[in-house]
Amino acid sequence: MRSYDIALIPGDGIGKEVVEAAMPVLRKAAGQNGFTLKETVYPWSCNGYLETGRMMPEDGVEQLRRHDSILLGAVGWPDRVPDSVSLHGLLLPIRKAFDLYVNMRPHRLLPGVTGPLRATDFDILCIRENTEGEYSGAGGRVHVGTPAEVAVETSIFTRRGVERVLRYGFEQARRRRGKLASVTKSNAQKHSMVFWDEVTEALSAEYPDVEVTRYHVDAIAARMITHPGSLDVVVASNLFGDILTDIGAAIQGGLGFAASANVNPSGGVPSMFEPVHGSAPDIAGRGLSNPIATIWSGALMFEHLGEAAAAKAIMAAVETVAGAPERLTPDCGGSANTQEVAEAIASELQGCQ
Ligand code: NAI
Ligand code: MG
Repeated sequence: MRSYDIALIPGDGIGKEVVEAAMPVLRKAAGQNGFTLKETVYPWSCNGYLETGRMMPEDGVEQLRRHDSILLGAVGWPDRVPDSVSLHGLLLPIRKAFDLYVNMRPHRLLPGVTGPLRATDFDILCIRENTEGEYSGAGGRVHVGTPAEVAVETSIFTRRGVERVLRYGFEQARRRRGKLASVTKSNAQKHSMVFWDEVTEALSAEYPDVEVTRYHVDAIAARMITHPGSLDVVVASNLFGDILTDIGAAIQGGLGFAASANVNPSGGVPSMFEPVHGSAPDIAGRGLSNPIATIWSGALMFEHLGEAAAAKAIMAAVETVAGAPERLTPDCGGSANTQEVAEAIASELQGCQ
């Protein structure tokens, strides 16, 4: 029987709850579709940091390397550990070590879920560059604290970096509705974004079946709200993608639904799947967290592992439960708890046809 070796990093706060709730759903879908999951739990978290002084062991990345995939809940406990420590001690090193250069987030409204828009029929796949661009970290400050102070933050766009993320977008568009939106601001940023446009143009010759539209980031931000149904695959730089995917999460009904994949499409390293939300200290430990974002992230993981049937079965079960809002958590107006939502989804899972 096929088996996948999964690293689980539940993390902090609701991260632990949503991973615990999601796993039985993933296990059941695996079993119904002819494969098993070999799970290893890594208790790396802010609690661990307070005990050991590290968010993960020195060889943490090496421990993860042997796995097929990583499923992460959320890390962060801002009252006790600064976010810069928890982020830089765990999430960022993993993304960097495995060169997870695609950050992919599906935004669609599940049937039955009420979002903030009048438009309900949309299915957008946002692909954010995850390793360079505006978040390259290149820069510095001089004359700190004086009237002459200068701060410089340099965006870095490499041909390799831009081309590979756009290529991934073209491949996804080809598998979906054949439309790619390339996001820039090339009227104002005349070096990096004009370069991005040129790479898009060159690649589009290789994908004549994909219809490419170039949008400025401000215009597409508005379009995601006024005409979300007109968008299919959206490819954006690190900063632009960060902002657009928050809009995406909002229009799909909130963080309880926003799933994500950090992918290195060339393989050979584990990709990492995680809900977009954080550890939500305000609701942690009370069974209030919506597990759907994590279960959906698990479906993205199965898809990535080549188990499309299991991914589809999970999403069908999620949609059935989402169609009955009273079966959801309070963030969606329901009265169920985390565990009950996951159990309802598990019980709706249908085996392979
Ligand atoms: P957050 O995403 O944890 O919470 C924002 C708001 O959304 C809160 O009111 C929370 O109750 C609600 N919420 C989030 N997920 C929910 C769910 N599944 N079901 C129902 N309600 C949900 O963001 P916040 O409060 O800014 O950050 C808390 C901690 O999480 C910080 O330490 C932050 O650094 C960390 N964080 C970690 C991330 C990660 O591990 N990838 C991502 C984002 C934040
Ligand atoms: Mg963000």
